[in-house]
Order: sequence, then C-alpha cells, then structure tokens
Amino acid sequence: MTRPPAGPPRNVSRETKGAPNPAPSDVSRETWTGPDEPPWPDPVAADTPIGAEAERAVRLLHAAAKGSLPRPERQRVFTIANQKGGVGKTTTAVNVAAALALQGLNTLVIDLDPQGNASTALGIEHRPGTPSSYEVLIGEISLRDALQRSPHNERLYCVPATIDLAGAEIELVSMVAREGRLRSALASLTDYNFDYVFIDCPPSLGLLTINAFVAAPEVLIPIQCEYYALEGVGQLMRTIEMVKAHLNPQLEVTTVILTMYDGRTKLADQVANDVRAHFGDKVLRTVIPRSVKVSEAPGYGMTILDYDAGSRGAMSYLDASREIAERRAGPTANR
Ligand SMILES: Nc1ncnc2c1ncn2[C@@H]1O[C@H](COP(=O)(O)OP(=O)(O)OP(=O)(O)O)[C@@H](O)[C@H]1O
Ligand SMILES: [Mg+2]
Repeated sequence: MTRPPAGPPRNVSRETKGAPNPAPSDVSRETWTGPDEPPWPDPVAADTPIGAEAERAVRLLHAAAKGSLPRPERQRVFTIANQKGGVGKTTTAVNVAAALALQGLNTLVIDLDPQGNASTALGIEHRPGTPSSYEVLIGEISLRDALQRSPHNERLYCVPATIDLAGAEIELVSMVAREGRLRSALASLTDYNFDYVFIDCPPSLGLLTINAFVAAPEVLIPIQCEYYALEGVGQLMRTIEMVKAHLNPQLEVTTVILTMYDGRTKLADQVANDVRAHFGDKVLRTVIPRSVKVSEAPGYGMTILDYDAGSRGAMSYLDASREIAERRAGPTANR
C-alpha cells in the first residue's frame, strides 16, 4: 500500500483564502470518460498530475470551508441498505457523512454491521468489549454511551460495531419490541443535535437491517455499476414495503447512488441507464467513480476526504453530499 499523503487537509483549508474559485457545481461527473481524467479543465498552474490534484484539493477544501450547505429543518436519518454484498454501502456511509461534517453539519454514523467496516474506515476503536451498537440494541447502554468522535473531524461521530453484533440477530428474536430497539435508542439521543444520521447495514435483510428501517424514514440504496446491479432490488423493495406497512409508515427510498462507475466500460453506462429508468429522480446525478484511492483510505482509518482531498473520489462524495443536502428535506422534515 502507498503511504497516505503528507499533511492533513484541515490546516490546508486555512491557506485557501486567496485560492481560485471552487469548481462550478454543475459539472457533471457522469461525463468523465476515463478514470484518470480530472472532472474539469485544469488551470494553467495545474499542468502536472500532482499539480492538478493539489489544485482540486484546494478547491474542495475551499468549497467545504464556505459551509454553504443548508441545515435540515429536522434531523434526517438514512438507512444505507442493499442486501447485495460489496456494493459500496459502507464506503458511501462514511464518505457522505464525512463530507457533510466537513461542510459544518453534525453527523453520526451508526455501524450496524458486525464486520465493523464503517468503524474501521472512520478510525474508530471497535475491539471486543468497546461499548457498541450491540449493547445499545440489547438495551445494556444508551446510544450516547457508545458514541465516539472521529479523530479527523469534530462534527463527525460514530457508534461502532464489534464482533458481538454477530450474535444479535439471534438474541433479538426473543426480545420485546425487537424491531424497534434502534429507533427507541435514537429517540432518546436528544442532547447531540445531529443534523444527519447514517445507519450502515450488513448485507442481509435480517433483524439488524429491519431495526435500521424502523429507525430511519429515509433509505439510501447504493448500486454498483456492474453486472446484476439490480438483482435483489425487488426483494429489497418488498422488505421496505413490508416495514412501511407494519412498522414504520414514514419509510421511503429517497436516494439511490451509483457506485464504482468505470467510464471506460459500456456496461457502466448501461447499468446507470437501467437504474435511472427504474428509480427515476431518486438517483443522484453524481456518480461515484471506481478509484483505487477510495478503496485504500479505510486501510488508514480515514475517509477519502482525509486520505486524499484532491482525488476524484473525494470530489464525487462531496458532490453527492451536497446533492443530498440540497434535495427536498425528506420525510423527516414533517415529523
Ligand atoms: N468507488 C470505489 N472505487 C473503488 N473501490 C471501492 C469504491 N467503493 C467501494 N470500494 C471498495 O469495494 C469494496 C466494497 O465496498 P464497501 O465495503 O463499501 O461495500 P459494502 O456494500 O459495505 O460491503 P458489505 O456488503 O460487505 O458491507 C471495499 O473493498 C471498498 O473499499
Ligand atoms: Mg459494509
């Protein structure tokens, strides 16, 4: 693995006061034709790949420092779900959360996957014995007691998952109000004022994911731009409808995000078109490109915004976060 770039982006942002304007926000990342092509024409100064990347980093941090994102009227809670494995649920959860936090919004990621990938990616302690989502679900501790702050951003928090969570699906079966335990825990977290909460689900539709659907009015579905992208989506939608009918009438799929898009392949475009035909305007305009940097970042306990702020992956997650924040406030706003 390569070393992470030197110099955390946080102090770079103070140097960006006189920097060029950030990139126009309407540049469509979907029009990229190659994985190494920058998302907009680079200025004269950025005539080398490193220069271009530095330029993008400065623009990103400048845009983020402006903090122009609207705060939601009420807290927005998203379940990030797709029972298909490896489609980018965790990557999307941590990077969208980090992008929102970077733009001034208080954000929480609840790791509800025994793999603990979101906790790892955020650099959050999750060894066995760490207060975690497991103890919260079985009612031993409150959500507040399991909160940890990100080492990279003071507005970003995480409730980690430990391997103990692997037993929760079975333990929960015999518990009272087994599907609503996360919702109750979240409702009692009143003193933190989180603007956004993202619940990262395991690749299954068991009781953990059901708990997330009951706790969150909004569902965000990541779809990988690969073969069989829509496989299993029918089952996912039926589960969501069932939860909506019986347990959480406010539940809606509000957002779909295309991940691991490779502009060099016809397949990626084909999948993107199919997904847009299926989900219409729920699909974000921003598409997340396939990028080695994005996959490297969790190995350093960092989001892509901390690992390489100038990368295309960082740019695209920043764009995705802005789209999410600027769309209608979602069902939560009416609660
Ligand atoms: N845009 C991307 N470019 C390259 N690699 C990516 C990208 N997004 C995710 N990955 C990599 O793909 C793998 C799967 O991603 P991720 O863990 O986010 O999926 P997931 O849906 O959460 O998986 P699981 O179902 O196991 O929880 C990871 O190794 C991740 O680093
Ligand atoms: Mg995951």
